[in-house]
Amino acid sequence: MSRTGKNLIGGVLALAVLMAIYVSYVLLRPAGPEPVAPIAGAPAQFTELVSRGRYLAKAADCVACHTQAGGQPYAGGLPFDLPFGTLYATNITPDHETGIGTWTDDQFVRAVRDGVGPAGNLYPAMPYTSYAAMSRDDVLAIKAYLFSLAPVKQPNKPLELPFPFNQRWGMALWKIGFFDNRRFAANPDKSPQWNRGAYLATALGHCGECHTPRNLAFAMKPSEYLAGEVVQGWLAFNITPHPQSGIGGWSDEQLAAYLSTGHAPGRSSASGPMAEAIQHSLQYLVPSDIQALVTYLRDIPALAGDESVAVNLKPEGALAASVVVPAQDKDDFGQRLFAQNCAGCHMWNGQGRQTPYAGLLGSTASNDPQARSVVSAILHGTHINIGGRHESMPAFGQSHSDVEIAAMANYVVSQFGAKQGSVTPAMVAQQRN
Ligand code: HEC
Ligand code: HEC
Ligand code: HEC
Repeated sequence: MSRTGKNLIGGVLALAVLMAIYVSYVLLRPAGPEPVAPIAGAPAQFTELVSRGRYLAKAADCVACHTQAGGQPYAGGLPFDLPFGTLYATNITPDHETGIGTWTDDQFVRAVRDGVGPAGNLYPAMPYTSYAAMSRDDVLAIKAYLFSLAPVKQPNKPLELPFPFNQRWGMALWKIGFFDNRRFAANPDKSPQWNRGAYLATALGHCGECHTPRNLAFAMKPSEYLAGEVVQGWLAFNITPHPQSGIGGWSDEQLAAYLSTGHAPGRSSASGPMAEAIQHSLQYLVPSDIQALVTYLRDIPALAGDESVAVNLKPEGALAASVVVPAQDKDDFGQRLFAQNCAGCHMWNGQGRQTPYAGLLGSTASNDPQARSVVSAILHGTHINIGGRHESMPAFGQSHSDVEIAAMANYVVSQFGAKQGSVTPAMVAQQRN
């Protein structure tokens, strides 16, 4: 037999052994008890199954990924670009042919919590890594809600991943290493409100999927829970209670306002993926659930994360600039571009002209020396719709060069963070993709 033939058989045998280990591991491991009310579930006023399911589906933000730009809600098709190819979120409307209309309760629970669909293991772009903590009742309430919607006929798109990444069984190996398939367990040392916040942040809101740094295998690092990570070019900031680099310096009111409206007076406005999370999900939470999230975020381990992002609330330049400075008095390239393109909405003092959402003073984005969210905002624009009120910023990616965008971003960091920005045109070029 040829050497490649032998290698192939050896490889297949090794994989078979690994699969056997995995299967016994999964079968032998206890999944843990189902969580009990009142921590799990929707708030008490949502009594009826479908309305409970609607609340939970919003809290878990299923629509964010299962809807493509301009497409029907929940009909799938949104692309997920991975370093080695693309996969697509699926149609989860109750269409019998192209959606999940024929699925049983067990099939649905298995997909959402265990990450196993009809074709095999799901890729963790579907955050079952977080949803695993949901109670079965909650998952089935979400199913009841999805089944109450009009079916949409839209076939799923096939994986565009090369071999071996297109092999779903390969994800079984990933799951052994990185998937903790465990239900939420209330912490008896903490208040019911804290536990409610924990359930909302982990099982439903999957905050960690964006805010927790990932390792080389794209798994969240538990020891760096919520310490900050880059998502689609934006920096999902450190949201642990660290006083300088986290949200420790924010008041409860600021945090609650941010989570429910996307703007914290004197602090950040939510842009990019966080604007979407608030628009589609968090703005629908009842006030007691927002308070629960605040209580929980205040009382998790404080981590320093990337300390260079610590917010300077008194940047000299911006505080001095109470009136618009005429552009011709300025010789700085970034400053001139800011005058032409940005100051009309944001003003020199960063207060925001038409809307407080355009406030840049005290925003964490303007205090990141690498200006990752600033560059993304300039390249792609950003918008948020809260209760029908639309706040938006146009994109400048088409009209401006990498050199110009780097200069504007560095200017924002110097003016509103009083720091030296380190953005280079090459970094902007990379972030364009
Ligand atoms: C962060 C993005 C994201 C969110 C949020 C998300 N999903 Fe998914 N989901 C995906 C992707 C991507 C896939 C396809 C994964 C694959 O092909 O392996 C998927 C697959 C599924 C499947 C399997 C469908 C099939 O045909 O195999 C179901 C069911 C599902 N999701 C339900 C839900 C529900 C219910 C929620 C909310 C509780 C939700 N998803 C939230 C991204 C997401
Ligand atoms: C889809 C990814 C994603 C999810 C899910 C997500 N976030 Fe964010 N979050 C971000 C990004 C990106 C930013 C930065 C936004 C910006 O640049 O304006 C952010 C910003 C924030 C901020 C502002 C921090 C600051 O210093 O300005 C808070 C607070 C926050 N998120 C809390 C949460 C909570 C709580 C959850 C879960 C309920 C959550 N996020 C879920 C991506 C996400
Ligand atoms: C038409 C008005 C308008 C213009 C022009 C504009 N912006 Fe914005 N910008 C906004 C609004 C409104 C927001 C908040 C949007 C949101 O919350 O989603 C925002 C958000 C931002 C943010 C994110 C703040 C945060 O806390 O995450 C940055 C950074 C930013 N703009 C920088 C700029 C720069 C630099 C320019 C010029 C290249 C510019 N903007 C031009 C209106 C504008």
